[in-house]
Amino acid sequence: MRTPFTELTGVEHPLVAFNRSPAVVVEASRAGALGVLAATAYTPAELDAQLSWIEQQLDGAPYGVDLLVPQRKVDVDTTRLVESLRAQIPQQHLDFVAALMAKYDIPPLPAGRRLHDGTATDASVVPELLKVCFAHDIRLIANALGTPPPEMLEPAKESGIPVASLVGKPQHAERQLAMGVDILVAQGYEAGGHTGDIATMILTPEIVDMAGDVPVLAAGGIASGRQLAAALALGAAGGWAGSVWLSTAEDVANAVIKDKFLAATSSDTERNKTRTGKPARQLLSTWHAEWAASDAPPTLPMPLQPMLTVEAWERIDAAAEQGHPGAVELESFFIGQVVGSFTRIRPTRDVVRDLIESCEQRLREMSGLIGLH
Ligand SMILES: Cc1cc2nc3c(=O)[nH]c(=O)nc-3n(C[C@H](O)[C@H](O)[C@H](O)COP(=O)(O)O)c2cc1C
Repeated sequence: MRTPFTELTGVEHPLVAFNRSPAVVVEASRAGALGVLAATAYTPAELDAQLSWIEQQLDGAPYGVDLLVPQRKVDVDTTRLVESLRAQIPQQHLDFVAALMAKYDIPPLPAGRRLHDGTATDASVVPELLKVCFAHDIRLIANALGTPPPEMLEPAKESGIPVASLVGKPQHAERQLAMGVDILVAQGYEAGGHTGDIATMILTPEIVDMAGDVPVLAAGGIASGRQLAAALALGAAGGWAGSVWLSTAEDVANAVIKDKFLAATSSDTERNKTRTGKPARQLLSTWHAEWAASDAPPTLPMPLQPMLTVEAWERIDAAAEQGHPGAVELESFFIGQVVGSFTRIRPTRDVVRDLIESCEQRLREMSGLIGLH
């Protein structure tokens, strides 16, 4: 399959594998998709090490990076900023989370486990992170948070690296196109993680119609060849998939959450604010039932809600890995509605191959519908 997206990035198949696990990125790119590393929680040195490792494994196959870069430069002492934000978390909220951890008997954080404090990437390290990205052989850079800032766009243009941007409604796309992004990712309501309220089926053609020559990838709801074929039918130049890679052997999520995914139906997710303060689609668990109780406090805005809950989640994940019953009950992660289609854990390369082969098969069947076999 040749599309404007495969032409622009040099990738074999019109499929992106968005994931935080470097091994998933490598296996997806080796199989001919474009592995994109979700690099939201790395220091510059860690990012450099991960990208170097990926490149060693890939031997020239294309891959990309997705960063979380705040739009405005914040010229302040970040330690003091974090402290002043922390002071804004009401005691009622701190007590609620502490009581939840006690009720489910969640052990403290294991020694040596590093805590990512849940705030967006520290603006002062952004230039370093971008320098690391552009020093590597990436074929795409994406910004997870709104319009890519000039610090990302300018060096990308100079190095000829396409910049992709996620959009959830036409107004977002207008801004991104005006900024000169090279690829728009139309991310619909059914997607895992932070998402808007327009479905992929509606959003994709809306964005395609606005985008002119700029290739559009459809995101949200793509986990099979039929769904990728549907994205192409809507005018997309490919699919940007996130959730499906959480059903792979190489994904770093623990076995408890992977088992929960396999057991889930397409009704078992919700756009919920209890983790990040913004609507993010995730698997429902006892955690969400507790926050929906009448005595639970309202969620706080971003970044206060993630600052409030990040340690609790680290503790839940660590204890769930050990099979701790309370943690297993609370355990959850970001995932889209496609979770209902997961039947087994598979190697990433098999997921890419099946998706592409069944998409091509479906496209052949569809051309048969109008006598073009
Ligand atoms: C676990 C998870 C984490 C995500 N984190 C991010 C992120 O940090 N940055 C980003 O741009 N998109 C993020 N997304 C959204 C994906 O980029 C993608 O748009 C989405 O997963 C596509 O829909 P799907 O989940 O139905 O495949 C995340 C998605 C998932 C499932």
